[in-house]
Amino acid sequence: MFPERVSSLKVSGIRKLFEAAPPGSINLGLGEPDLQPPPEMIKGFVDALEKGYNKYGPSAGIMELREAIAAYLRRYRRDVTFENVIVTAGATEGMRIACETILGEGDEALVPNPGFIIYGPDVRLAGGKAKEYSLRAENRYLPDIEEIKSLITPRTKAILVNSPSNPTGAVFPRETVKALSDIAKDHRLYILSDEVYDSFVYEGEHLSFARFHNDTIIVQSFSKSLAATGWRIGYVATSKEIVQQLSKVQYYTLACPPTATQYGVLEGLKVIDRFQEEMIAEFRKRREVAMRKISEIPSFANAPVNGAFYMFPKYAQKMPSEKLALKILDMGVICAPGSAFGSSGEGHIRFSYANSQANIANGLDIVKAFMARL
Ligand SMILES: Cc1ncc(COP(=O)(O)O)c(C=O)c1O
Repeated sequence: MFPERVSSLKVSGIRKLFEAAPPGSINLGLGEPDLQPPPEMIKGFVDALEKGYNKYGPSAGIMELREAIAAYLRRYRRDVTFENVIVTAGATEGMRIACETILGEGDEALVPNPGFIIYGPDVRLAGGKAKEYSLRAENRYLPDIEEIKSLITPRTKAILVNSPSNPTGAVFPRETVKALSDIAKDHRLYILSDEVYDSFVYEGEHLSFARFHNDTIIVQSFSKSLAATGWRIGYVATSKEIVQQLSKVQYYTLACPPTATQYGVLEGLKVIDRFQEEMIAEFRKRREVAMRKISEIPSFANAPVNGAFYMFPKYAQKMPSEKLALKILDMGVICAPGSAFGSSGEGHIRFSYANSQANIANGLDIVKAFMARL
């Protein structure tokens, strides 16, 4: 009855689980910071509403915000201007229009497995073919460069990457960013880089692909960096030519990003450094609690990961991850099954530490006691 590209879309496995949680459960399934956005940002939004910014704006976003994002990005690349930036309705819409813009019918894009759930569907909705590369615990959840090379065909258009990564928490080191950029250059591919967790790095540094490869399309968001997932504002940063094409696709998708919200984010950008410093200091402590508690669970093997706010341990029991996550849920702890992120996520379970230190400790103690009984 419905076209295959739509009927084949699955409802997120994570949401299904969360809906079944008993009241009072400890939520270690969260994909968003538990903090509120900075007050300056909320005031900026309210002021904008009162000033009458309740109408359509430009398709690529309000000029003030495009300029402010470009100024922020000039920390990493000196030649960035507003023409390299389009404001989007979060990274979700940014990734979707990026796929629509660069992929022709039958073009291939390499996507991570396990990876954030939207990538494969985005490629397919754009008429492309998603070919999966694996991120394995044995390889510290980094792409295997030889595997990537072996997947490239004359139809390959893009390599989709996500560092810091959801669900694994891995941060690509310089060698990996450089090696992937070199492959992309050699084969004239785009790097489609989801960098929404760039501020959540606890050891080492985040290296944007834009520093190594000109044909990089950065998909970004203020959802995590300003704790504003419900605001639906992000951006794509890339060449001026691609931004012009993206603006057309965005017009037919969204008309324009929400106007007043953009004025709010503009104020948020003025305090983003201070806000992130405080947020990351707290997340660093949470990560330590999570790592310590997970290391106390004998059947969990956790590769050391440095970013985002997820732990993705591999467990020893022979049980599907959805079943295990449901059993843990019955004990009152919400977590996500690894299989929700692709077939290579099977045998893993994802815990988010976007929760208080006490909740992380209590939740993982419950998991420890439960795993000991399995
Ligand atoms: C890797 C990754 N990319 C994109 C998103 C979606 O971000 P947004 O809220 O900006 O659409 C998420 C949300 O969890 C994510 O984990």
